[in-house]
Amino acid sequence: EEVPVLTVDGPTASGKGTLAHELAESLGYHVLDSGALYRATGLAAERAGVSFDDGAALGRVAAGLKLRFTDYRVWLGDEDVTDALRWESTGQLASRVATVPEVREALRQLQLDFRRPPGLVADGRDMGTAIFPGAPLKVFLTASSLTRADRRHKQLMAKGISANIESLRDDLEARDARDKTRPTSPLTPAQDARLLDNSEQTIEQSRDLVLSWWAERS
Ligand code: C5P
Repeated sequence: EEVPVLTVDGPTASGKGTLAHELAESLGYHVLDSGALYRATGLAAERAGVSFDDGAALGRVAAGLKLRFTDYRVWLGDEDVTDALRWESTGQLASRVATVPEVREALRQLQLDFRRPPGLVADGRDMGTAIFPGAPLKVFLTASSLTRADRRHKQLMAKGISANIESLRDDLEARDARDKTRPTSPLTPAQDARLLDNSEQTIEQSRDLVLSWWAERS
């Protein structure tokens, strides 16, 4: 029997990562944070001095990524990049390499390999449309841009980093615009996705709603 996959797609800072981890924990499934692969590619390309206009070279960086996920850390080669991957500047690099078809193709198999028993919760932008189009439940998670900027602001404050909500909102709207308008695998809900706006919901409410959808999936 096929290993079940639940996909969670949506815009920047919509809460996908948190929801995906909660769902994976409840179901005892693996989790794929596909954004981390694009972030790692952006970081590795910048460090290697590769031009962001050179699609073939960026594709080679993606294909050669030495990325390892341990319990709570992510390693690029023998460097712990857990924190560097979360930087907003890395998110911007990620959204630039994510427009490159060679990069998306190189990361495709890597993402498919995360599908292992007993199941997978995959979060990103195109999990339901391009990578796991046959998934029995596809969630498209949204939240207002003000809510998203506010959550990002609180995360940064918790880390002792000061930031301006207006400029955070500008940054995430710029990233959303790039993700939605690129020709290859743009950010858009799958035709059969269930839409969930979590602006006014707690994480527990969102998790329980999705778990009820999962229990009823066909
Ligand atoms: O989800 P996260 O913010 O970590 O993703 C970083 C960037 O990687 C996104 O802005 C998007 O451009 C890209 N991405 C993508 N497809 C995915 C996951 C992420 O294009 N499945």
